[in-house]
Amino acid sequence: MADLDDLREGSNFGLGETAGEQSFHVKGAANLSWGMKDRLSRIFNPKTGKTVMLAFDHGFIMGPASGLERIDLTILPLIEYADCLMCTRGILQTMIPPTYNKPICLRSDAGTSILTELNNNVIIDIEDAVRMNVSAMAVMLAIGDEKYEAKTIANLYKAVDKGTRYGIPVMGVTAVGKDMARDARYFGLASRICAENGANIVKTYYCDGFEKVVAATPVPVVIAGGKKLPEKEALELCYKAINDGAAGVDMGRNVFQSESPAAMIQAVNGVVHDKLTPQQGLELFQDLK
Ligand code: 5RP
Repeated sequence: MADLDDLREGSNFGLGETAGEQSFHVKGAANLSWGMKDRLSRIFNPKTGKTVMLAFDHGFIMGPASGLERIDLTILPLIEYADCLMCTRGILQTMIPPTYNKPICLRSDAGTSILTELNNNVIIDIEDAVRMNVSAMAVMLAIGDEKYEAKTIANLYKAVDKGTRYGIPVMGVTAVGKDMARDARYFGLASRICAENGANIVKTYYCDGFEKVVAATPVPVVIAGGKKLPEKEALELCYKAINDGAAGVDMGRNVFQSESPAAMIQAVNGVVHDKLTPQQGLELFQDLK
C-alpha cells in the first residue's frame, strides 16, 4: 500500500487537500455547495470557463416571436451546439426531449405580456425546477422601474433562498429600464444588485466600459444578444464581451433569427470557447451556412 509520501509525490495537492478541492472555474462559486458547483459546471465548460446559452424564453411575454413559431424546426437542430438552454417550463415539457440531457436554465418568473405593463412578475414554484432537474433558474430584475423594482428584487431574493435549499443556482436577468441610459453605470448598478442579492450568474447587455461592469460584479456575467444584428456585428459583440471579461453569452434572436441559425451558433461557439476573432467567426459562419 502506498504511504503518505508516495501519495503526496504523485499528487498536485497539499496535505489536507483533495482533488475535489481544486480551485473552481466559476467566479464567486468557490464556497458554494457540491450541488451548486455540479450544476454550474454543467453550464460553464470547466475547460474554458465559458458558456454559450441559447435563449428562447421570449414567448413568455411575446407569444410566438419571430423565429420561435416552430420550436421543433428552429430550436431542436441547435441544441447540440449549445452549452445550456434557457426556456420556460411549458416549452421545456412540450418541445424539448429529455433524452437530449442538456443543462436547463429555467425561466422562473412570470407575469404580464407585451400587451400590458411589463415587469409585474412573480416567481414560479421552486418544485418545478427540482422536478425538471434544471441547472439554474432565471429571474428578471427591473432596476429603475419605480413601480416594480422592489417586487422584482424580492423575486430574485426569494428565488435564491429557495435555490440554495436545493443546490440550484439563480441567474439574475437585468431588464432594461425604459428611461435608463444603456451604459456601464446602469448595467453595473443592475448587475451588482443581482449579485448582492445572491444571484450566482448575471445576465446583462454589452456596453462601452463593460469591463467595469464585470470587475464590479463578483459572479459570472453573460450577455444577451438583443435585437437581431447582421451576423458580423453580432459576432463582434460576442468577441468584445468575451474580451472585456464576459463569461459567455445567453443569446436568442441573433441565433434563431439568423439566415442560418446552426451556422451562427457554431460561429458564436468558436468566438466564446475557441477565441476566434469576429472575422474568423464570420468565415466559419459562411463556410457552414
Ligand atoms: C428577456 C430574456 C431573453 O432571453 C434575452 O433577451 C435573450 O435574448 P436575446 O439575445 O434575443 O436578447 O431574458 O428577459
